[in-house]
Amino acid sequence: MRVTVIGCGYLGATHAACMAELGYEVLGVEIDDVKRHSLASGKVPFYEPELEDLLSKHAASGRLRFTDSFEEAGAFGSIHFVCVGTPQRGDSLGADVRHVDAAVESLAPYLLDGALVVGKSTVPVGTAERLAARLAELTPAADARLAWNPEFLREGYAVRDTLEPDRLVFGVSAEREERLLREFYAPVIATGTPVVVTDFATAELVKVSANAFLATKISFINAVAEVCEAAGGDVVDLADAIGHDARIGRRFLNAGVGFGGGCLPKDIRAFLHRAGELGVEDTMSFLRQVDDINLRQRTRVVQIATATLGGNVARARIGVWGAAFKPHSDDVRDSPALSIAGQLHLRGALVSVFDPQANETARATFPTLDYAETAWAAARDADLLLHLTEWPEFRAIDPAELGSVVRRRQVVDGRYVLDLPAWRAAGWTARGLGRR
Ligand code: UDX
Repeated sequence: MRVTVIGCGYLGATHAACMAELGYEVLGVEIDDVKRHSLASGKVPFYEPELEDLLSKHAASGRLRFTDSFEEAGAFGSIHFVCVGTPQRGDSLGADVRHVDAAVESLAPYLLDGALVVGKSTVPVGTAERLAARLAELTPAADARLAWNPEFLREGYAVRDTLEPDRLVFGVSAEREERLLREFYAPVIATGTPVVVTDFATAELVKVSANAFLATKISFINAVAEVCEAAGGDVVDLADAIGHDARIGRRFLNAGVGFGGGCLPKDIRAFLHRAGELGVEDTMSFLRQVDDINLRQRTRVVQIATATLGGNVARARIGVWGAAFKPHSDDVRDSPALSIAGQLHLRGALVSVFDPQANETARATFPTLDYAETAWAAARDADLLLHLTEWPEFRAIDPAELGSVVRRRQVVDGRYVLDLPAWRAAGWTARGLGRR
């Protein structure tokens, strides 16, 4: 089976390489010349463990190629995955679906008879139905159809999440699309992956609901962390204890500086916005609080840093460990770590940031911060150290040795993973939000 992947960003590049790994011949369509050339030479233009090996393997085997031509894509095969981005709009909280519309409209004139266009992008509910009608209007192909098959991959685990997903969701309007998708995903289904077959609207809502639930879980524990702090409790012990209840589960109960990235923040806002358009905004208004609690974590760290430095951060040296929105990623989109570093810098602090992978992406977003070559260099002469992205290498640093390079032994752990008693024993004033 020959398939195409339209849009080779994070989702598309991973999907294309993984589908080649499953044995398909894949043509990736990417209109950005720099990205396309990089992918064609087997280089992933962002950091994602395992992806580069897969991409170079299949670029070399010839099973994976890239083009900027929709005409070539239409003729190449009969299944086309739409993986373009749906960022937050500039003028509202809604998702910008222009790239999804453009992908379908550009492909439609070239589709073969019986072709299936499969949307994977995260879209506001109602988009698939609108696009199915648009496709029927624009394509000369007989019986060309649309299906929606949302993707749930996490950055840092993108390859594994694509090849071994928790579930497959097929939003379809007829039995033929279900059959084609089952046939296509047969190798994944054969490993026991559950399949949920449903309508367009439900498939679209599954994706945003999953992300909204995860975001709610994180904001819940961050709110409880503030209560722990007020009451003298410890949120990590609390999360461990409630997490033992299988109905609750321990995952996504890590309190700290909150969630960021290209999905959770924009997806809850787009969900809220779409609920408003559908006249059910009140029902979903708790998502506004989820967003507020999340953003408050960033402000809290800035306040704690300011208090630790005696009420003023101006001219203080602050070392920041982490810039990516989470470890094993170089993505700084809506990153709590970079937001906190930036806020402190704008208040006059001398901020030195180190991230094992995200220094360059962070520099492109926030060029006026100082970027250090190592975790040690970021901490040199610091009056305060902030641990904001939980890369394993930060945890391995010996606080006693590090104590000799800083000006004052003061650390705030925004990710709850440093061994605070060990840091205290090494003479540090060590603080975690919501921790003893
Ligand atoms: C998320 C979803 O997990 C994925 O299913 C979807 O397809 C895309 O969005 P991703 O954005 O890669 O994936 O990151 P994720 O691992 O979900 O983490 C999101 C944010 O939440 C990160 O900033 C992370 O640090 C934060 N987080 C996560 C917490 O603050 N606490 C936790 O317990 C878990």
